[in-house]
Amino acid sequence: TPIVAPDLSKCHKLKDPPEFPPVDPADVKCCAPFSTKGAIDFTPSRPSGKSRIRPAAQWLHHDELAKYKKAVELMKALPEDDPRNFIQQAKVHCAYCNGAYDQVKSPSDQYIQVHNSWLFFPFHRWYLYFHEKILGKLIGDPTFSLPFWNWDDPSGYTIPTIFDDPTSSLYDENRNQTHLPPTIIDLNYTETDDGHPSKPPLPDPEQIASNHYTMYRQMVHCKIGTLFFGNPYRTGSPPSPGAGSIENVPHSPVHVWTGDSNRRANGEDMGHFYSAGRDPVFYSHHANVDRMWNIWKTLPGPKRVDISDPDYLNSSFVFYDENAQLVSVKVGDSLDSRKLGYVYEDVPIDWLKYKP
Ligand code: C2O
Repeated sequence: TPIVAPDLSKCHKLKDPPEFPPVDPADVKCCAPFSTKGAIDFTPSRPSGKSRIRPAAQWLHHDELAKYKKAVELMKALPEDDPRNFIQQAKVHCAYCNGAYDQVKSPSDQYIQVHNSWLFFPFHRWYLYFHEKILGKLIGDPTFSLPFWNWDDPSGYTIPTIFDDPTSSLYDENRNQTHLPPTIIDLNYTETDDGHPSKPPLPDPEQIASNHYTMYRQMVHCKIGTLFFGNPYRTGSPPSPGAGSIENVPHSPVHVWTGDSNRRANGEDMGHFYSAGRDPVFYSHHANVDRMWNIWKTLPGPKRVDISDPDYLNSSFVFYDENAQLVSVKVGDSLDSRKLGYVYEDVPIDWLKYKP
């Protein structure tokens, strides 16, 4: 049986809390504001007109940047208990990822974990979908589209500079200060337990080549669904049956590389599930992860297809939409981003030429 949307009224203390207590204990109180109104089902609508195009963050036009900054500013200014408030949005991630919800009707009392399994891509796709709708509603622009952090291309190897302006709503001070622009990312980055890089940084030209190979390997080598998407995860399964290739690398390294492991015990914000959504760059990072799902299905060679297991397609989640209405969504309705009304800006994909 599929893993279905949790019952928000049964949300509880985190079963998988961060190892070190956060600066403010309230930061791990992650249950969503809850009303008895109940969830409505998402109805896929044939989007009218053309798709929204999510732009590459490094090429964002300033009028678009101004809108984005304004939208995040308004989201941060919403009442604290409004489920659309920025911190509430971050708590959605905490609740679904640090064990605030139990699986519905699990024979073995398991909690829900949306990482390290086939739920990874669809959960984050829906999460961003509603986040983007809320931002658009706040600025009165239903065509608003989240920019993506194009970390798979040398032009996007630094934290996008739009997030690096301390006067902007897109800024977060809890980032690794030695990894700010113009430092380029290591898509294979790992740290030791005490928060130090596991290996010394490479000179830029070698880092660039290594990143290309990493992308090629993670995207092209896994031709079969579960290797790319992650292992099956059904009601009764313990959390984390196994992550897909992109979730492992570069998704996780990008989190750890960005988070402030020098000054924050759990690598907050980006370096831990409970806090990652507090950094606005999270949503652009995940937009690029989401873009990889679209790209994977168009790669040359044998046709790469979505998982068709009914337990996958019938898995569901709940999110608050732009009107603060709770909506229940199915994985099966998320497979084609065009049906959700958006595509990604077409930018060069150099790594395709870097067969290891
Ligand atoms: Cu839900 Cu990038 O983690």
